[in-house]
Amino acid sequence: MSNRTLAILKPDCVKKNLIGNVIGKITDAGFKIKAVRMTKLTKDSAEGFYEVHRERTFFNDLVKYMTSGPCVPIALEKENAVEDFRLLIGATDPAKAAEGTIRKLYAESIEQNIVHGSDSDENAAKEISHFFSKKELLENYPK
Ligand code: CMP
Repeated sequence: MSNRTLAILKPDCVKKNLIGNVIGKITDAGFKIKAVRMTKLTKDSAEGFYEVHRERTFFNDLVKYMTSGPCVPIALEKENAVEDFRLLIGATDPAKAAEGTIRKLYAESIEQNIVHGSDSDENAAKEISHFFSKKELLENYPK
């Protein structure tokens, strides 16, 4: 079990001015922010990030949406990070998300679903390195 996951506050989160609310929910749930930035994904970067979904029918729409405005990738740390974060955000489709989850509270559709969370420890490591260098993760500094 790894202790890290990658969140992305998606363009709908930024547009709706919900960055503060969502980060508050994340830190209230015990996650520590290891690294954070605001960025606008290029087509290449979004396609690379979502490579595993390339053959899916929604791939082109997903890339278009994720490049439509700024987003906020965040590297998070907590024991059992991947699983706990997925419980905190709720199901991909907000209509199926449990009460009290971030997507149930704020998301409006399966595409505009406010926040991404890694789905495995292996993908968390890959996804964190997609956005952050070891230097940005402050890995060479004492805790
Ligand atoms: P995310 O956790 O970022 O991972 C892949 C994304 O694809 C997912 O959130 C959704 O936003 C999107 N997605 C998954 N399934 C569908 C679908 N059936 N239609 C449109 N978008 C989808």
